Amino acid sequence: MARILLVISGGIAAYKMLEVIRRLRERGHETPVVMTDAATRFVTPLSVGALSNAPVLTDLFDLDREREIGHIRLARSADLVLVAPASADLLSRMAAGQADDLATATLLATGAPVLAAPAMNPHMWAHPATARNVARLAADGVRFIGPEAGEMAERGEAGVGRLAEPAAILAAIDAALAPAAPGPLAGRHAVVTSGPTHEPIDPVRYIANRSSGRQGHAIAAALAAAGARVTLVSGPVTIPAPAGVDLVAVESARDMLAAVEAALPADIAVMAAAVADFRVDAAPHKMKKTDGPPVLTLTENPDILATVSASSARPRLVVGFAAETQNVVAYARDKLARKGCDWIVANDVSADVFGGTENTVHLVSEDRVEDWPRLSKEEVGTRLVARIAETIGARGD
Ligand code: CTP
Repeated sequence: MARILLVISGGIAAYKMLEVIRRLRERGHETPVVMTDAATRFVTPLSVGALSNAPVLTDLFDLDREREIGHIRLARSADLVLVAPASADLLSRMAAGQADDLATATLLATGAPVLAAPAMNPHMWAHPATARNVARLAADGVRFIGPEAGEMAERGEAGVGRLAEPAAILAAIDAALAPAAPGPLAGRHAVVTSGPTHEPIDPVRYIANRSSGRQGHAIAAALAAAGARVTLVSGPVTIPAPAGVDLVAVESARDMLAAVEAALPADIAVMAAAVADFRVDAAPHKMKKTDGPPVLTLTENPDILATVSASSARPRLVVGFAAETQNVVAYARDKLARKGCDWIVANDVSADVFGGTENTVHLVSEDRVEDWPRLSKEEVGTRLVARIAETIGARGD
């Protein structure tokens, strides 16, 4: 039994909170609620209050209610704060540390863990400002559940932005309330690369690839869940950094190599980034159309995986990725030898993988090959980390 303070902000998905409140009450939790002004336009405080059977606060300046209950007391006495749906606006105000309404004032006053379930239009979720706010909140320790991909309420809109399903929110609440076990990789440091790199052509243009960073981020999340300290070196992506990892945001391959080297020593390195093999000798000024089609001279980028494998500070376990469309295992074996790493996660990209949510992989080491079924990127991360934990274990093992 816990006291879970719900902060509901504006959005069509606010009605789903009625179901979440009902299920939390069934489990015996107390569920006081704070609603933003916008939230009250989507679901009434009356229906929320009827289900929560606990105070529903909506106005910072309602003095009688404030004397009776007090948002600071509410904030301080909660075991967990659930912000759902967390609108783009509320995330922005949380990230800025604002306290200009009851919801943000309560969030600023709480010392309890905060779990946020964002929901918004996919364009709003993909906007760099939202990504920045989410990354800042994650760095502050806010955990996130969702958003999920799917159809939006707006006709014809689809993409990432839907509120996580009530069952997923409840599972995330259980995980947030569970006492933290030490984890099989406690005391270990892992460096993970993720996402694409951007190689500048001139001050306003760059070469990039379609990597979403989902696989690398999922591995970083799984390593953190296993108790490792994780440095996530990520190229530009629109997804948030998982809670509890140290994010180093980079742009180019050379930045990524410098960040990885600065993060060493580490026990584990997982290089899941889609690093651009070549960079451009970038022009110092914006290229003009009137100068005619430019000739781009490409120079080979440093190979981060090979450099780390050959480093004097080489982590005990170095894992690389390979994207192949044919002869998957044979090419992976070749890459293992060329790059000097211990394992290759060979990704069969003959199907649509980049930007997708699933992967079909083979785990290739010098003496064995494991064929894994088609799995979600999260499951690939969890399985890989289970293998890593078997091989490395916690510090002192
Ligand atoms: N890698 C890296 N630095 C680079 C290039 C790649 O660290 N400059 C890493 C990637 O993070 C990944 C692995 O090396 O772990 C992929 O190697 P790469 O040779 O790029 O393989 P593919 O993408 O499969 O491309 P190709 O088959 O053309 O070699």
